[in-house]
Amino acid sequence: MAAKIIDGKQVAEELRAELKAEVTKLKQEAVIPGLGVILVGEDPASQSYVTAKERACEEIGIYSDDNRLPEDTTQERLIGLIDKMNTDPKINGILVQLPLPKHLNESEVLLAISPDKDVDGFHPMNIGKMVAGQKAFLPCTPHGVIQLLLRSGVTIKGSDVVIVGRSNIVGKPLANMLIQKSPTGNATVTICHTRTKDLAYHTRRADIVIAAAGRANTITADMVKEGVVVIDVGVNRIADDTKKRGYRLVGDVDFEAVREKASLITPVPGGVGPMTITMLLYNTVESARIAAAKT
Ligand code: GUN
Repeated sequence: MAAKIIDGKQVAEELRAELKAEVTKLKQEAVIPGLGVILVGEDPASQSYVTAKERACEEIGIYSDDNRLPEDTTQERLIGLIDKMNTDPKINGILVQLPLPKHLNESEVLLAISPDKDVDGFHPMNIGKMVAGQKAFLPCTPHGVIQLLLRSGVTIKGSDVVIVGRSNIVGKPLANMLIQKSPTGNATVTICHTRTKDLAYHTRRADIVIAAAGRANTITADMVKEGVVVIDVGVNRIADDTKKRGYRLVGDVDFEAVREKASLITPVPGGVGPMTITMLLYNTVESARIAAAKT
């Protein structure tokens, strides 16, 4: 039987409607959540992500401060802009789109963002708090994956989860969030990666497979059990002459074949993507609420 498709756009819309109501309430108390956005360089994928993030802000009433800097921006100029945003009361969240051009020091840049405005959840302070199970801004993609699972009625507690990919943005934080002693955790987690000896051995016994490897067709139908829940975090461009732009987007999962065995599966696009942006809005609203409570 073909899987039920998890509609990330619909779940994201539900959450965004909740956030929009929250922003309306904050505005009645003269609080306007603000997001400072910084993009360095001309990478087309990053440009479209940043535009989508700014559009989403506008839709729910968050003010966004757009900063598009040239490819040859210096570390000093970038850090200077972050410092300005750190002390700007109109800005509750700072987003520096990654990856940065090679000449910039990414870890130094992330460290420069005030942990109180780190709505991406990439600052070591927030990562440390998350690992220790303390309240922190959670990274948007893993948090979005957990929200998708919960809002689709999937039981995380006690499940065998296999994550394919060990990135700082997805695999590592997601594993940490899923093992926490919390209503959104209590799973048994395995992280697989490029040096894993027998990937299929692990994925075949998983109740939930989360693919975040960054390579098309990493998960094929023979690698999963009947009834598995599959979350596809991958976004890969495949050349396609039938499309005007010359490519199409696919995930890490062989969607058509795997959906025949799965009970639930996310599509690409329209699965995890809309949730990532939504959780960024969530963190920005949360940050504005915390800042307002302090004044
Ligand atoms: N690049 C890819 N994903 C992300 C993300 O979630 N946040 C930022 N800042 N950059 C990214």
